[in-house]
Amino acid sequence: MIDVSELVRPDEGLINPSIYTDPEVYELELERIFARSWLFLAHDSQLPKAGSFVQAYMAEDPVLVVRQRDGSVKAFLNQCRHRGMRICRTDEGVARAFTCSYHGWGYNLAGELVNVPMRERAYHNEIDPAEWGPRPVPRLHHHRGFYFGTWDEEAPPFDAYLGDMAWYFDAMADRYDEGLTLVPGATKWVIDCNWKFAAEQFCSDMYHVPFSHASAFTALVDDPGVVARMTEAQLTQPGRQFSGNGHGSGFGLRPDIVPHQVGPEFDAWLTANRERIHGRLGEQRARNVHGHNTVFPNFSWLDINNTMRVWHPRGPGQMEVWAWTYVPKGAPEEAVREIRQATIRTFSPAGVFETDDGENWTEIQQVLRGHMARRTLLNARMGLGHEKHGTDGMPGQVTDDMYSEMAARGMYRRWADLMSGLTWQQIAELDRSRQREEEVRTP
Ligand code: FES
Ligand SMILES: [Fe+2]
Repeated sequence: MIDVSELVRPDEGLINPSIYTDPEVYELELERIFARSWLFLAHDSQLPKAGSFVQAYMAEDPVLVVRQRDGSVKAFLNQCRHRGMRICRTDEGVARAFTCSYHGWGYNLAGELVNVPMRERAYHNEIDPAEWGPRPVPRLHHHRGFYFGTWDEEAPPFDAYLGDMAWYFDAMADRYDEGLTLVPGATKWVIDCNWKFAAEQFCSDMYHVPFSHASAFTALVDDPGVVARMTEAQLTQPGRQFSGNGHGSGFGLRPDIVPHQVGPEFDAWLTANRERIHGRLGEQRARNVHGHNTVFPNFSWLDINNTMRVWHPRGPGQMEVWAWTYVPKGAPEEAVREIRQATIRTFSPAGVFETDDGENWTEIQQVLRGHMARRTLLNARMGLGHEKHGTDGMPGQVTDDMYSEMAARGMYRRWADLMSGLTWQQIAELDRSRQREEEVRTP
């Protein structure tokens, strides 16, 4: 039996590193975190027409997300009910139906079993196809072009689940009049580390940037003085961090939304569209909410680098990253090319920042092979007791520095709530009482 209070103590900023290595913890995560949370499945631009489909994962469970003839979207477990083969083995495409490649059971776009070969001879007509369709994802939600799904009928509605994070999410998803589009295809690769290192870093960690990425800044910019200047800017720039419902966002307060440092064409496009962007989001939000983000548990994005990704768990010591580059719909081709190139250089399997991050995570995972290392508590106390509320009219719990681990503690708090087996209703009550306590503490 797992005692979750032995694993993380968010209020004291303590992490037992066995949460990154213990197979029993991992199994429980699949059940209590991933089978109960809202998970990112697909973006509208991946499903342009009836029959468009894309593979996704909900943790280790493969699912197929399909645009229906009526324009709606359905998702179902990509598992044939005959012997469990993947119903569709293609990453994405357009289909009229799906046929299992093992014995040929056939499914329609809605995931209903519609054809069983040799139904009379082999099954004596005794099989009822209505009973043997793949398991549907029972709840889907469409938020500003993004489809999320959950297996859990008891999970709060998506809007309540997202909570105040919606304001930060929409600063990305709702930034441009025409919306976003994903550059076709996902980049997928494996990193030998626990998924929480990545989810937590994107949720909460600006602190590593001036140190871990100092060499990346040198590689990117052909100017010997740049590291000192960039590091100086990183160290002195004011910023904010948001935490709520396990989600997190952090950003430096920016003098303006341009220059974006992606390239001259994209900068020019942003400048030309500045009024419209400010009009949609409000000037402060458009300028500032532009940093690192995680929607609990494993969907993250970086506004500055136009990358979004899911950290699919693959056992305690491994994850599979699925990353997409997103661009404003309707941006000129040359601007899109610049964004793609900048994303490849920074956040892709060989990107200069990505490899810095992966190096840290795999190294920690290696250290945690040690018997003693796995039993030695880690410090997540940055800013503990100094959290502020409602800084600058930003919604939710916002602290007045981007160098904080408030959001990491928030993520582990939600993780612990779910891992303890509390119902969503109990968690909601707990959240309310926490908020009351917090209001008493910081009026
Ligand atoms: S496993 Fe799919 S038809 Fe047999
Ligand atoms: Fe990083």
